Amino acid sequence: MKAIVYTEGGGPEVLRLTERPLPQPGPGEVRVRVEVSGVNPTDWKSRRGGPPATVAEQVPNQDGAGVVDAVGEGVDPGRAGERVWLWEAAWQRADGTAQEYVTLPEAHAVPLPATASLDTGASLGIPAMTAHRALTVAEGGPTRLAPGVLGGRNVLVAGGAGAVGHAAIQLARWAGAFVVATVSNPYKAELARAAGAHHVVDYTAPDPAAEIRRAAPEGVDIVVEVAVAVNSGLDLAVLAPNSVVAYYADTGGAEFTLPVRETFTRNLRWHGVLVYTMPDAAKREAVAAVTAALRDGALRSGEESGLPLHRFPLERTADAHAAVEEGAVGKVVVDV
Ligand SMILES: NC(=O)c1ccc[n+]([C@@H]2O[C@H](COP(=O)([O-])OP(=O)(O)OC[C@H]3O[C@@H](n4cnc5c(N)ncnc54)[C@H](OP(=O)(O)O)[C@@H]3O)[C@@H](O)[C@H]2O)c1
Repeated sequence: MKAIVYTEGGGPEVLRLTERPLPQPGPGEVRVRVEVSGVNPTDWKSRRGGPPATVAEQVPNQDGAGVVDAVGEGVDPGRAGERVWLWEAAWQRADGTAQEYVTLPEAHAVPLPATASLDTGASLGIPAMTAHRALTVAEGGPTRLAPGVLGGRNVLVAGGAGAVGHAAIQLARWAGAFVVATVSNPYKAELARAAGAHHVVDYTAPDPAAEIRRAAPEGVDIVVEVAVAVNSGLDLAVLAPNSVVAYYADTGGAEFTLPVRETFTRNLRWHGVLVYTMPDAAKREAVAAVTAALRDGALRSGEESGLPLHRFPLERTADAHAAVEEGAVGKVVVDV
């Protein structure tokens, strides 16, 4: 079978196409014929660092979608033929989704409802699970999103045209929140609206805080934050009492400072989110909620739903990585 591998860290050029033997699923594993591999910033960041010391040859890409074609010992044989979306394929494992077949623990291959496309399936793992975690770290929960559970809450999604931002808007809308998103230009505003944001604010315009306050006068209860270092002042200006900023990236800066008295008197919380190391229970909740949202048609991909797709064939995975690294707007996918 064909696979993309890297044996050293570096730019996209370290990725090369190779032939490998068909892997056999071990106990508790499934083998998936990968149809679409999803690319995230984490994939090129890992590639730049090179494979872990214990791994000679790494296949990149955490996310993907395909069809179960074989099962290992202890797995229901009825799973063969199931369409699935994949998460954390390459986390602490040598085998990502940029190959024709991947074996992985069966819990990491989640049934994809018939109404959801494989492209959508390949766009979920990292972005949707990160977004789910960010939307569920507020005091008092909920720990699992479902229709109505964020009713009456105001959610601010920073960077609403980003992959995580897109998932956060869709999940927050599905859960009944009032959703405000920030963007940097009119095209991205269109995308955030298409994803379902009730109100979109250009954060490069003068006084975005006033604009957000106009949309959500009681303040924001949850901020899903991609650029905490540059936005901490803006967030502080729009937060409701007892609210949370769930931050998941260091876009724009590696450190931030906060005023001590103001944050504690308002009972504000800043909560770091990393998808890989969040509690296992939170991962299970995210998988269950994402699957339910898919079934409800609430998670979609494609330009019309705010997530333009950029496709590359497997042999051009290096170009797919370069596109993500250069900040492609939307979702970069690889047709395996
Ligand atoms: N912690 C985790 O578990 C986790 C999970 C997934 C991703 N990440 C990280 O999160 C980052 C984003 O990932 P992604 O896949 O969503 O990337 P993406 O699709 O490229 O989206 C990033 C978005 O952030 C926006 N942005 C940049 N500066 C901003 C600012 N000051 N205010 C508001 N928005 C801003 C960008 O648009 P404009 O520049 O036009 O505003 C863009 O839409 C990456 O660094 C990634 O590694 C972390």
